[in-house]
Amino acid sequence: TDALKVGIAGLGTVGASLVRIIHSRANELAITCGRPIEITAVTARDKSRDRGIDLSRAAWFDTAEALAAEADIDVFVELMGGAEGSAARSVEAALQRGLHVVTANKALLAASGVKLARIAEEKSVLLNFEAAVAGGIPVIKALRESLTGNTVSRVYGIMNGTCNYILTRMEKEGLSFADCLAEAQRLGYAEADPSFDIEGNDTAHKLSILTTLAFGTEIAPDEIYLEGISNITIEDIHAAADLGYRIKLLGVAQRTETGIEQRVHPTMVPRDSVIAQVDGVTNAVAVESDILGELLMVGPGAGGDATASAVLGDIADIAKSSPGAQRVPVLGTPAASLAPYRRAQ
Ligand code: NDP
Ligand code: HSE
Repeated sequence: TDALKVGIAGLGTVGASLVRIIHSRANELAITCGRPIEITAVTARDKSRDRGIDLSRAAWFDTAEALAAEADIDVFVELMGGAEGSAARSVEAALQRGLHVVTANKALLAASGVKLARIAEEKSVLLNFEAAVAGGIPVIKALRESLTGNTVSRVYGIMNGTCNYILTRMEKEGLSFADCLAEAQRLGYAEADPSFDIEGNDTAHKLSILTTLAFGTEIAPDEIYLEGISNITIEDIHAAADLGYRIKLLGVAQRTETGIEQRVHPTMVPRDSVIAQVDGVTNAVAVESDILGELLMVGPGAGGDATASAVLGDIADIAKSSPGAQRVPVLGTPAASLAPYRRAQ
């Protein structure tokens, strides 16, 4: 079977994790996805940097635009970031060329998602972006697929791992805001410009994407009431705790009698609520809808591997649905070769 040829633009925290995972699980992926996944083209800013990954079988392109326009690929994976510039140009060029696109770039989608979706529809290609909201949590799949037919009344949650990490560490370890932010950056959770995290813009980008999927509105981050966590002090956290609350940066979008309302701000949540227990880089997204009721998804919201896991799922969806894929195993593993159990003692 022909391999699905993947080009990756961006080999930082997420991109390097993705390359490592695809290489280390090549055999399993070929079976689960119905065809092998091969990384045939890559780019980043600095060609000479040792990233601890094997790029010897991939062609290096000097720019993402060149990769999107010329590389021998089926899927263009954008993991550079930024609402404008190279990410925007290369994603648009890839779609115009008729390539499937996978991106984790919520800033780009918040700015140009509707335009890009329109091009993808015109060209009959897939634009997948599971990693753009709440890291590894399959919230896009839930809204786009699992909740089909439901009318959503509210979507809310903790959607920024950096902020939740900072608030948790300040409260539990008594560390300063600046130290917690520096640690989140070191761990690869924060945006290239961390003010997007702490001022709430990143949560607003994610919420605007969820709002569009949940309510069928334009993607409009500017319609969101926005307040970040940069003014939250340890005293605020302790005062909230004395009253039985914890402070979380929440994004909330809900249907009201006069339209869809969206807001992002630090919120006092009762200490014994589920959302108050969500600590560290973990995210939580709740969706309230008429057929299903309340769905709550909790899981890793940032970091290289967690995010790459969602990107890989998006690539796998493309591989499975593409012409040339072998029959995809119903149970993930071919029914003929399922592993035996070890009986519990
Ligand atoms: P990094 O900053 O770690 O990596 C960015 C990569 O893109 C680097 O390899 C960089 O090259 C490359 N790059 C940047 N600009 C250009 C350019 N103009 N041309 C070519 N290459 C370029 O970012 P992350 O991996 O953390 O994030 C990538 C994307 O994923 C962003 O959109 C981010 O918002 C999103 N995301 C990140 C998550 C996380 O936990 N980190 C979670 C969910 C989404 P070089 O290495 O040479 O500098
Ligand atoms: N900077 C983002 C966060 C990355 O901390 O949640 C995941 O989107």
